[in-house]
Amino acid sequence: MTERLLRGRILSFRSKPEAVDDRASYFYEEDGGVLVRDGKIVAIGDFAAVSAKAGDAPVEDHRPNLILPGFIDAHVHVPQMQVIASYGAELLDWLNTYTFPEETKFIDAQHGRRIARLFCDEIIRNGTTTVAAYCSVHRQSVDAFFTEALSRDMLVIAGKVMMDRNAPDGLRDTAQSGYDDTKALIAEWHGKGRIHYAVTPRFAITSTPEQMEMAGALMREHPDLHMQTHLSENKAEIAFTQELYPASKDYTDVYARYGLLGPKALFGHCIHLSDREADALSESGSVAVFCPTSNLFLGSGLFDWQGHAKRAKPVRVAAATDVGGGTSYSMLRTMDEAYKVVALQGEKMNPFAAFWQMTLGNAKALSLDARIGTLDVGTDADLVVLDAKATPAMALRMETVKSLAEELFVLQTLGDDRAVRETYVAGRPVKRELTA
Ligand code: GUN
Ligand code: ZN
Repeated sequence: MTERLLRGRILSFRSKPEAVDDRASYFYEEDGGVLVRDGKIVAIGDFAAVSAKAGDAPVEDHRPNLILPGFIDAHVHVPQMQVIASYGAELLDWLNTYTFPEETKFIDAQHGRRIARLFCDEIIRNGTTTVAAYCSVHRQSVDAFFTEALSRDMLVIAGKVMMDRNAPDGLRDTAQSGYDDTKALIAEWHGKGRIHYAVTPRFAITSTPEQMEMAGALMREHPDLHMQTHLSENKAEIAFTQELYPASKDYTDVYARYGLLGPKALFGHCIHLSDREADALSESGSVAVFCPTSNLFLGSGLFDWQGHAKRAKPVRVAAATDVGGGTSYSMLRTMDEAYKVVALQGEKMNPFAAFWQMTLGNAKALSLDARIGTLDVGTDADLVVLDAKATPAMALRMETVKSLAEELFVLQTLGDDRAVRETYVAGRPVKRELTA
């Protein structure tokens, strides 16, 4: 039995904070305790009360830092660690010039293992404990990533990208091999440790109708799995998709026709949706994933984070880094950019809502809120410890901060991996091991 008693200022959400003063939406304990045992949270509350139940469990004192559920990144590309920060292109050129050539390197299993290890190090450094990730088209890139995640006991969702056209040699499967490899990977990995498999057709442009049929078949055969793809990111992408699928009403309808909409379907970007498309996402319970740093970096457009929640038929929303189109592994940096995108549309994202989004909000969007995203008793002990005075500039700004909301906003606006003092995965402190 492994037990730890964490002490610090505890923050965990119950529901989406609709305003800064929505006190009922979160649990906050100034001198809090979280008792973790064998990877689960077994008690939470006032430190004295939790301590009374903790026997001689060793105490890790994080005061005055904040303890929150680990961050969740709902859309990221593992093979793009050496694509991030590639200059001067919009989506389709960026894919052809930088991304596809880089992803061809993942034919080499050893390269895949190296990047998988460095990727897991980097997300842990940034306080992210769960990702929904794309691997490359190569089966071995998925083996590499899941092997790494399993060895660290991380809850991850990932899949082999399916892509059988409009991509260079060495980066295409076929409708049949994409199906067969996906089947084999599901059989080998789904449910092992904390691993979830996601059926991953890259996007409509790189899949033939035959491959889209196969993706639909996989979802019918495995209805409990996630499905992840890209939707409505860039105007040229949308026009090309319409050319390739002339019978479809619009881009969303391409995926709908192959049975790919649903509560476990994650659609990256969703920037230029019509009302009809947003209704289709809403009615099917599909999730639109907001990738602010990527959408700004590639000049793709502004995601309507506030609008999706407020419309008569609300669309479920997640937030994500989308590295390497995205420019940071940090969910703090991501929500800083998200705030600015919302501001450009004349609205404000309240800091509690931002922290809800990276924790419980994303857990709900991934249908994993029974396991992760809160500090509720019985859930997995994935946590992050945050220090709002981590840098001199943050410490100086904190001198004038009077409320938790202001402190969270400093963390989000100025924070990055330096503000992450520790990351716990399944109850184990793993950030300190990176430098050990
Ligand atoms: N659309 C299809 N593939 C990709 C990708 O790798 N990144 C982004 N941002 N959009 C995509
Ligand atoms: Zn993406």
